[in-house]
Amino acid sequence: MVIKISVKNLNMSYGNYVVMNDLSFDVQQGEIFLIVGQSGCGKSTLLRYLLGLKRVGRHKIFYDGTDMNSMVNVPGFYGKKIGVLYQGGALWSSMTLAENVALPLETYTPLSKKEIEEIVALKLSLVGLKGFEDFYPSQISGGMQKRAGLARAMALDPEILFFDEPSAGLDSVSAKRLDDLILELKESLGVTIVIVTHDLASIFAIGTRVVYLDVESKTITAMGTPHELLASSNDPNVIAFLSRGTKAV
Ligand SMILES: Nc1ncnc2c1ncn2[C@@H]1O[C@H](COP(=O)(O)OP(=O)(O)OP(=O)(O)O)[C@@H](O)[C@H]1O
Ligand SMILES: [Mg+2]
Repeated sequence: MVIKISVKNLNMSYGNYVVMNDLSFDVQQGEIFLIVGQSGCGKSTLLRYLLGLKRVGRHKIFYDGTDMNSMVNVPGFYGKKIGVLYQGGALWSSMTLAENVALPLETYTPLSKKEIEEIVALKLSLVGLKGFEDFYPSQISGGMQKRAGLARAMALDPEILFFDEPSAGLDSVSAKRLDDLILELKESLGVTIVIVTHDLASIFAIGTRVVYLDVESKTITAMGTPHELLASSNDPNVIAFLSRGTKAV
């Protein structure tokens, strides 16, 4: 078992306002690791810490055993080590899908125009968007925008992919399709995936392990496979969350 990310006794706050205390967990290579919990518990905040958008003290977050403080400024950390699919897909609206996916390759690699074209075509076909190279984001559906965002996040073949609420705003069929795609990526490419979500269907369909951030106790109160937790957790908040309030402890 290879540990890709290690979080040790992380405290999260905005100024004096404490969001969570003493978070410790490992993300293993090749798993789909879900960060779940009630609205406002601190999921997006945790993602900001993991992405280095919010600064952290030394010896708190490690990537492949190295303190993240000494990695965030190394060229390639964003893009090659980690890829991010932000909420909403966040594509450039004035660029075609092909141009969107090509941008990180043009910025960070010495590849020729022709090589970049080939990679762009490959990434877009991987997410089921072959033939849509010349479309603009406004000309495609929300689900397709998410998939295009995913193609862009994968442009540089990152080792770890992060998603913030990938299924937000999608109908259940498109959300299922995105879940299937995420599972496929994990299985075919072996990429490690960290997802913030409160989509229950998705949690049970794709989660290898979940970590539950409890808004009341301000720390992690459960960690395990989703089915394991639903079957055997004796924490009423965890059970209420995973069963949408239909199961009592
Ligand atoms: N920039 C900020 N400054 C101050 N407080 C913030 C900031 N961003 C978030 N918070 C607070 O931190 C807490 C956690 O917010 P966060 O956005 O991480 O929650 P979340 O779990 O992602 O919620 P949701 O499921 O609704 O997206 C909330 O109480 C929120 O009000
Ligand atoms: Mg959030």
